[in-house]
Parts: sequence; structure tokens; C-alpha cells
Amino acid sequence: MSATDGRSGEGREGLNPPRNAVDALDEGAAAAELAWLAAEIARHDRAYHEQDAPEISDAAYDALVARNRAIEARFPALVRDDSPSRRVGAAAAEGFAKLRHGVPMLSLNNAFAAEDFAEFCASIRRFLGLKEEALHFVGEPKIDGLSVNLTYENGRFVRGATRGDGAEGEDITANLRTLADLPLRLKGAAPERVEIRGEVFCGKAAFLAFNAAEAEAGRRVFANPRNFAAGSLRQLDAKITAARPLQLFAYAMGAASSLAVETHWDWLEQLRGWGFKVNPLSSRLETEADAAAFQARVGAERAALAYDIDGVVYKLDRLDWQTRLGFVGRAPRWAIAWKFPAEQATTRLLRIEIQVGRTGALTPRAVMEPVNVGGVVVQHATLHNEDEIARKDVRPGDTVVLQRAGDVIPQIVSAVLEKRPAESEAFVFPQLCPVCGSHAVRPEGEVVRRCSGGLTCGAQAVERLRHFVARNTMDIEGLGEERIQELFDLGWLRSPADIFRLPGRAAELSQREGWGETSVRNLLRGIAARETPGFDRFIFALGIRRIGEANAKLLARHYHSLPEWREKMIAARIIGSEAREELGSIQGIGPTIAQELVEFFAEERNLAALDDLAGLVRPQPVEVAASDSPFAGRTVVFTGTLETMTRPEAEAQAERLGAKVTKSVSKKTDFLIVGADAGSKAAKAAELGVTTLTEAAFRALAGMA
Ligand code: IVH
Repeated sequence: MSATDGRSGEGREGLNPPRNAVDALDEGAAAAELAWLAAEIARHDRAYHEQDAPEISDAAYDALVARNRAIEARFPALVRDDSPSRRVGAAAAEGFAKLRHGVPMLSLNNAFAAEDFAEFCASIRRFLGLKEEALHFVGEPKIDGLSVNLTYENGRFVRGATRGDGAEGEDITANLRTLADLPLRLKGAAPERVEIRGEVFCGKAAFLAFNAAEAEAGRRVFANPRNFAAGSLRQLDAKITAARPLQLFAYAMGAASSLAVETHWDWLEQLRGWGFKVNPLSSRLETEADAAAFQARVGAERAALAYDIDGVVYKLDRLDWQTRLGFVGRAPRWAIAWKFPAEQATTRLLRIEIQVGRTGALTPRAVMEPVNVGGVVVQHATLHNEDEIARKDVRPGDTVVLQRAGDVIPQIVSAVLEKRPAESEAFVFPQLCPVCGSHAVRPEGEVVRRCSGGLTCGAQAVERLRHFVARNTMDIEGLGEERIQELFDLGWLRSPADIFRLPGRAAELSQREGWGETSVRNLLRGIAARETPGFDRFIFALGIRRIGEANAKLLARHYHSLPEWREKMIAARIIGSEAREELGSIQGIGPTIAQELVEFFAEERNLAALDDLAGLVRPQPVEVAASDSPFAGRTVVFTGTLETMTRPEAEAQAERLGAKVTKSVSKKTDFLIVGADAGSKAAKAAELGVTTLTEAAFRALAGMA
């Protein structure tokens, strides 16, 4: 048994892609793979935590982490500074107030087989000292959605939160109010205060239909219903949540002012009585043996259900026993999630397509005969990179085993070798870009092969345009993927600036098949709405390698305006220049990122495209929260070891107060905060006459004392 929650631990479900044995790696190959894994895992972390849009299943993610761990265990000298094993999870989203749960929201231990369930029952008996007495359970299908905590006072819905870290979540009250399944008033008598827990989720059909419409409109699609539910609930605008097809099943209680029920089953009845939906498959089980039968019954119905489930949760029925059993770690002793195996199917691999991304990366994608995997028809799977294809040895024409673990994009587990056609040949990864014919190069030590064609490559140009208009960058409505390709092929749209010239082609556009007045009008409105984008979004939209959302924010905050940034980036081309030092001093911008920026600005074509764009849009400086703190607008450097807080905490606090935190002392530094064992920075500050503060003085001025 192992505790799982969200994405962790799901690796037990059996997705173990055959890979080169770690023992067979030499140091060069190991270093290359670790570099790739660090970048890949970081990308998936951002996709999952910050964008609610994972690209791979939990199981596939866990396999990457496990692989990283295994290689590091064999080559400890190669552990990287940015290794995933050294990082902790992503920070909570900004923008929502925090709400503390009355009782913590926990996760569940998992069972994968009848023996695990038997051991779970045995441990309950041991703990409670029971002999012959029967254990009654309630079995409830486990939907992988988003758990929420709903607080009712005197029968009225007053607050609702996400689970968050278990102790406190995000206040999403306004969004929850829009759910049709959520009673705003409890029917009948209600206690003074009660917390109700349940799962917000989206059905398979509604999810697929929503994604299809999003894809049609050229917007980002969601990887699975869970992320769809999470993304929909964590909207700052409740109108967006209201338009999403979300459902709610209630299944547990949190804090309550008074309790009249004695069993979990009665509690579910109470929830039904108050007007909640409780999963209709939920059943009371009289003996332990009934659980196995229930597991089989729900398993048989699984594919036909309207929503994805990944197992059954079994809860001990007697609440007094639940209380005595309590918790270990973050999971109760009285409940368990018995997981189903990942849904699998076999089909034929028709071909392996190579997609060319924004940065020229060649990514292989499997195209298969459409097959129904657990109620969802799939025909594509990602194959990650050329080494992965070689490791799995999958070949066009093979019969392959596909696996879907709640996600729409499945994994290829393996090829069925007995069914391999005699004439089959191993897949040869192309050495030329399939779109523009340029050489595709795989630098020594890297796993990814890239097209060297840059912007002359149609695929890269189109992908950059798609990135430019995407929801989290410039967010231009009315310009979907297909439309971009169409306008690109026409030659009307080659660079981002061309987008802002499209209004000049409105008449021609509305003549085109498939456009019509409304779509042209929507497009023009979408474009007009983005002529004054936030500077950070603008920077992110440029699609510079390694400049994601977070780095774009750092740059926008530091440089304030496009002209200033442009000038400094050009000056930073010269190593040792003041501008280069300044760039290197920004907290969070390392040498690799600085190098990418400088290279981008060293390329004449990029500068021309940027200047062209600068004549058409006016990026707005990011607002730094107005603050009357002495640190607002000041440049601050920390040095030495702090005693009462960690460096990241201190830096975050300074930033919250409107400071710019940099790494090195220069004449632009306003304050140097000096901890224990400070070295050369303190000397330099003294030399330059920079004000130095002790940690205590910093705390006092920062209002932390
Ligand atoms: S009970 C201590 N009941 O599973 C009780 N959870 O791994 C913990 N879930 O965060 C929750 N269906 O998102 C419970 N019928 C059900 C559930 C359920 C789905 C999810 C929930 C929770 C996770 C725990």
C-alpha cells in the first residue's frame, strides 16, 4: 500500500516502459539523459501545476521521475543542480485567498489487489482488537476529479475551497456557487455549521466535446477531466466556471457542530436528504468478502460509466470506529482506495509522425487504428523522442498495447512481438526536418533532435504564431490553429506583427470560404482587445527558448518597458558589459537563460520582427503592488546565512513589498541585507556606499518583526 494523492504514487499501476538498463549506460549517455529528464520533468511540472494542462499521464510522469532517480543512484557525481530530485512541488496559485479547513482534507492509501484489501481489514482488526465481529463497509466509485470543502452555516452555503495542501485551500466560493449540483441551501433541518466534502468532475462526453470545441477554436485542450475540473474551478472569473459542464458528488464530512449519525451510510443518506447528489453506485457492504465482488461489479461497469473512475473507495461504516482508528500520516486508517488497473487495449500502429515544434524539436507521435480504451476512442500516443522509440522497439505495422490512466493521450506500453509482421523494419528517425528539409541536429549530450531551419522553417513559424496567440500568452480570440495555418499558407501571416495588420484585410477575409462576417468580426475584436498586452505576457509570447511564464514575469518586472528591455538586451551581447551584469544579477535568471536572451537579440531577423511588432502594440508595464514599504521600487541584495527565515522566504517577502531582488551588489543596489558569514558582497557594499541592513533591521522595516 502507498499513499497517493493527485499524481504521486500512481506508478504502481504498472506502466513500466522497457528502457535501457541503467547499468548499461556510460557516463556520457547518463549525463545526456539526466539533462533531458530535468528539462522534461520541469516542463511537465509547469504544465501540471501552473497551467492545469498536463501532457502526459501520472503514470508516465512517475516513470520519468523514477528513471531520473535510478540514474542518479548509479551516477551520484552527475546529480544536477536543477535535478528534479532536488526540487519541491510548485507554489500555490496566486489570485485566490486562502481558506483553512475546519478539519484537514486527507488523502487515501491505495490497494491494488485482494491481498492488499485483506491486509487493510486485518490492520483494522488488530488496531481495534476485534475478533469475530463483521466489518461493514461502504464502497464508493473513486472519481479522479477535484475535491472541495463546502461550508454551510445554518443551512446556507457560505464558503468553498479546494483541497490545497490539505490544511488550507483556495477560496473558490464564487465559482462553486455556479454549480447546478451544489445546493445553496440545505433542505430540512441543518446544524449550525457543517463542512461537506465532495468531488467536482466532468463527464467523459462533455469533456471530449468541450475539448473538441476548444481545438476547433484554436485553443489549448485539457489532458484529462481532472485538470479540466481544476482549471475550470480555479478561474478568477466565475462566469467562465458557470459555462463549464461540471458535476458534483458529495461523499464525506469535515467539521460539524453537531452530529446525529452513527454510520457513514447514514451520513450519505443525510447528504442526499439535504439535496446533494451522492454517487448512485455507492453501496453498503455487509462483509469483507462483499468488497471483492463489489470491486468486480464496478470494474465491469467502468467503461460504460459516463465519467472516468480509477478505483473504489472503501470506508468503514461505523463512525465511532473511524474516530478510534484515526490517521497515519496523511491518510485515514479506516478507508482505502482499491485501484483498478490502467485501462488497456491493443491496436495497430499505422505510422510514426514527426511533429516540429516552436523551437524546432522533432517529436514523434504514434498514429494508430482508432480503438476504444475504457470508453474513450483514441488514435494518437506520444513517443517522446527517438531514444524512446528505440527502447520500446515499436515499429509501424506492429500490434501495440495501449494504456490510458484517466488521460486522453495514452501511452504505448509495448509492441506485441508475436504479431510483428515478418517484413517489419525498425523505425529510422529522420535526419532532415520533415517540414522544411533543413538538417535536424542532435547536439552531443542531448536527447532531442532539432530542425536547424529557424524561422525559415514553416512548422516553426506556424508554431511560434500559435504560441503567440495562445491563451496564456497574447490570448487572441478567433485565431485557431487551422486559421493560422491557412493565413500562413496564403502568405498573409508570417510574423506576429502581421496579426495586427489583418484588420486591413477584413474585406478580403470575409470573402474567403469558411470565414463569414461573424468570424471576421470576432477576429477583429480579438485583435483589438490585445493591442495593449501586459509586458510580461508580451515577452512570453515572443517564444524565446527557456523564457516561460515565470521568467517573462521576472524580466517584465525588472525592465518595465519594451524600449528599455530592448536596449539593455542589445547592450548585453557584450560579455562583461554593465547590461550583461545587470541581466545576470536578476534573481532567477541564470547564465543559460541570459545566453538564450542574448542570442535571440543578436539575431537580426528577431530584432526586425520585434521592431515591426513594437510599432503596432503597446505593452503595458506590469503592476507592482503599490506599497508604501521602504523597499518598494528598490533594488535589494541578500548575502550570508539568515537565521530566522530561508533565503527564498526573505526574497519573496522583499518582492511582495515591491523590491527588485538581485544577486550582486552594484551602484544600483539600494540595500544589502547581511546575514551571518557574509563575504565579499558586504565589502563591496561598503566600498560603494550601499546601505547595509542586518536581518533584524530588514524584518523590522519589512513589517515582519
Ligand atoms: S474520501 C479521508 N471518497 O480521492 C477521506 N475521496 O486519494 C479522503 N476521491 O482527495 C477522501 N472519490 O479527491 C473520498 N468517494 C470518495 C472519493 C474520494 C474520489 C478522491 C478525492 C481525494 C482523493 C484521495
